[in-house]
Amino acid sequence: MPNASEGAPRAPARELPAPRAVVAGARGDCPIYVERGMLARLGDVAAQAVRGRRALVVTDSRVGPLHLAPALASLRAAGFEAAAETIPAGEASKTLATLASLWDALHRAGVTRSDLVVALGGGVPGDVAGFAAATWLRGVAVIQAPTSLLAFVDSSIGGKTAIDMPFGKNLVGAFHQPAAVVGDPLVLRTLPPREFAQGMAEVVKSACIRDAELLGFLRAKAGAPLSEEDAERVIAACAAIKADVVNRDEREGGLRMILNFGHTVGHAVERELGYGAVPHGEAVAVGMVAAARLGERLGATPAGTADDLAGLLARLSLPVRLADLPGGAACAPDALFSAMLADKKKLGDRIHFVLLEGPGRAIVRPLDPADVRAALPAIL
Ligand SMILES: NC(=O)c1ccc[n+]([C@@H]2O[C@H](COP(=O)([O-])OP(=O)(O)OC[C@H]3O[C@@H](n4cnc5c(N)ncnc54)[C@H](O)[C@@H]3O)[C@@H](O)[C@H]2O)c1
Ligand SMILES: [Zn+2]
Repeated sequence: MPNASEGAPRAPARELPAPRAVVAGARGDCPIYVERGMLARLGDVAAQAVRGRRALVVTDSRVGPLHLAPALASLRAAGFEAAAETIPAGEASKTLATLASLWDALHRAGVTRSDLVVALGGGVPGDVAGFAAATWLRGVAVIQAPTSLLAFVDSSIGGKTAIDMPFGKNLVGAFHQPAAVVGDPLVLRTLPPREFAQGMAEVVKSACIRDAELLGFLRAKAGAPLSEEDAERVIAACAAIKADVVNRDEREGGLRMILNFGHTVGHAVERELGYGAVPHGEAVAVGMVAAARLGERLGATPAGTADDLAGLLARLSLPVRLADLPGGAACAPDALFSAMLADKKKLGDRIHFVLLEGPGRAIVRPLDPADVRAALPAIL
């Protein structure tokens, strides 16, 4: 049966800017756009991405009132019949119930195989709308339109989608490469400063593992608010790093593990202090400094790296020691160690740790858990 919502492919009225990076997916390339004003081109990108004319934009209750109208206007101007579904803001929305509500919304909007889902928001709408798109009719196209710094540099890129379960985060999901990532750094004007700082932790992570030049740029700029031009440059650099790592290792067999720099300790800290009690970026900031100190102790990381990194993170308003976090001072090394062993990144009887070999260079080292346990008090 012919698809009622299918139209002839439409050329965009104006040429699109060159993508900053491209992720090669099994079902086609995913161009990543990072340009100030890009949200107004969402419809043009969508028109290139799918043949259908229907789109469901999924956003959250904070982002919706701020940025949904221009997204819908752009889609409609490009000929889409665009509907919107708003989920409550926050991690608590990454549930099966939300997923079911999105399937319902997709049904009501009449979204067919050739139509489109747009995830407009931070990592929460990105993950849950991405998973809804991955599963609706066994997979429809999704465009990620990130609005948090974390989503720009991390969650919108790479195709991982997930929901949480009562017994753990991100346990159910799918790999579903977006058809495009439409990043407009101007939306960051409305992002609360603390959320911005969370994203900067991932920015620093990207620079540490892969881009010495970006690390230098961040050092030169830290301490004052980033200009919009600089924010665009930093985001584009981070998007290119993540895209490059994903292209070399789409399903997380090896290289993609370096994206976990700071996360082995970071996840353990989140688990111990309670998800939500400590924001992810703050836990990762503490975890990155700990990993740098561990690397120095093992002779894998140049001396002074950890102090340098701590200085940079502190100037970005991020914590650098466990004791800087609420409840951190009372957190016992043994408890953290157990949390670390429970993490899914542990392979066999070794803990795989991402260590820095130098600015912009990371390696994955399988470490003896006993050595990690012994070092914990000194590195935290
Ligand atoms: N799929 C992946 O590869 C991947 C990678 C990293 C993280 N994640 C997931 O991402 C989530 C965290 O992402 P997040 O920090 O973006 O969370 P989030 O989506 O909850 O956004 C954080 C807060 O900022 C608000 N917000 C977002 N953009 C805004 C804007 N422009 N103006 C005003 N407010 C805005 C949101 O409403 C929310 O309150 C977690 O669930 C995590 O598991 C996924
Ligand atoms: Zn992270």
